[in-house]
Amino acid sequence: MDLNDERFWAFVRDQFPLSRDRAYFNTGGLGASPYPVIEAVKATMDELEQICEVGRTEQLWAGIKGDAGTLLGCDAGELAFVRNTTEGINIVAYGLPWKEGDEVILTTHEHVGNALPWVALAQSQGIVLRLFEASTASAEENLDRIRKLTGKRTRLISIPHVVTTTGLLLPVREVSAFARSRGIWSFIDGAQTAGMMPFNLHEIGCDAYATSGHKWLLGPKETGLLYVRKDMIPTITPRFVGGHSGTVDWPKGTMTLVSTAERYEYGTVSTPLRVGLGAAIRFIQRIGIETVWARDRALADHLAGELRKIPGVRVLSPENPSLRSAMTTFEHERIPQLKLQEYLNTLNLRTRNVTEGGLAALRISTHIYNTFEEVQRVVDGVRSAQS
Ligand SMILES: Cc1ncc(COP(=O)(O)O)c(C=O)c1O
Repeated sequence: MDLNDERFWAFVRDQFPLSRDRAYFNTGGLGASPYPVIEAVKATMDELEQICEVGRTEQLWAGIKGDAGTLLGCDAGELAFVRNTTEGINIVAYGLPWKEGDEVILTTHEHVGNALPWVALAQSQGIVLRLFEASTASAEENLDRIRKLTGKRTRLISIPHVVTTTGLLLPVREVSAFARSRGIWSFIDGAQTAGMMPFNLHEIGCDAYATSGHKWLLGPKETGLLYVRKDMIPTITPRFVGGHSGTVDWPKGTMTLVSTAERYEYGTVSTPLRVGLGAAIRFIQRIGIETVWARDRALADHLAGELRKIPGVRVLSPENPSLRSAMTTFEHERIPQLKLQEYLNTLNLRTRNVTEGGLAALRISTHIYNTFEEVQRVVDGVRSAQS
């Protein structure tokens, strides 16, 4: 397929009910679902409501997780369905065996979803948070900053794969290898990666990884996946358990958890949403995750290049192509970001305000439903903004 064939991308765009009046650039917040996903959710709901059944079968779960595992590079049994990345992070945070004084390394630019669970643990269990500011210049520098923060009490490194503020890609493979060499756990917040870029969890080598179905994967809202490496499953104890986590043995009152990551699932859940997530994964796979990544990046690179030419604009996302993702963040030295965002809103351009890490910037996510024409509208909009 020719990546530059705009007819193909116009065809892809036609698969989405997403309004054409407003150019949508907040996939990092929430992804728009295509018709096949919406139809899968509706059809499953229609079918199940006729018979009033939950519709969960082992075969169905295994099929969806199998497809997810193929995309993410892990075994189906290492995946649990969760509601969102945040739930996955909480499962890991509350499942690891902590001792007071254990240290956790984070960046200063965490999304609240990878900040609050650790802050809460610091308050309730006395763990200590050690923060480093991620460099947008060099992967080696980031590894170095993590190494320098590591000491005898370091128990976990919990970092984003793609930093929510600047779209910076962190060297998660090297960090996981370093953590392992020191006997430290590694957890990766992958909210911004699945469906945006190709990666392989077994190759990354982290202990656990959480991602969202409702961002770049374009799945139904309130879907996510938690990966726990097979040999880490016994170490991360599920705090919430129930139907599907395992079995209970009466009258002894003991429990046997299932051996897979399904132990982190419990109770009745929405089958239509999970079927929709499966449809989303297949939709992305039909285009090809490598193709998606190349397209998303081409749009982002073009945008960053054009924004850099505008006087007063500073692009905060990395310049180094190997550190960039499909999120481009910028600030305007004369126009406060909320004012600029409001102005861009009047031009029907949906951006995301970035305040994490003390930034005052705007973030543009570029995904497969965006076009170069829309990107140009952002560039023109920023250029025409008045202070
Ligand atoms: C890096 C990061 N982590 C976690 C989250 C939270 O994701 P969710 O709302 O799916 O829990 C986000 C959402 O934007 C994010 O960017």
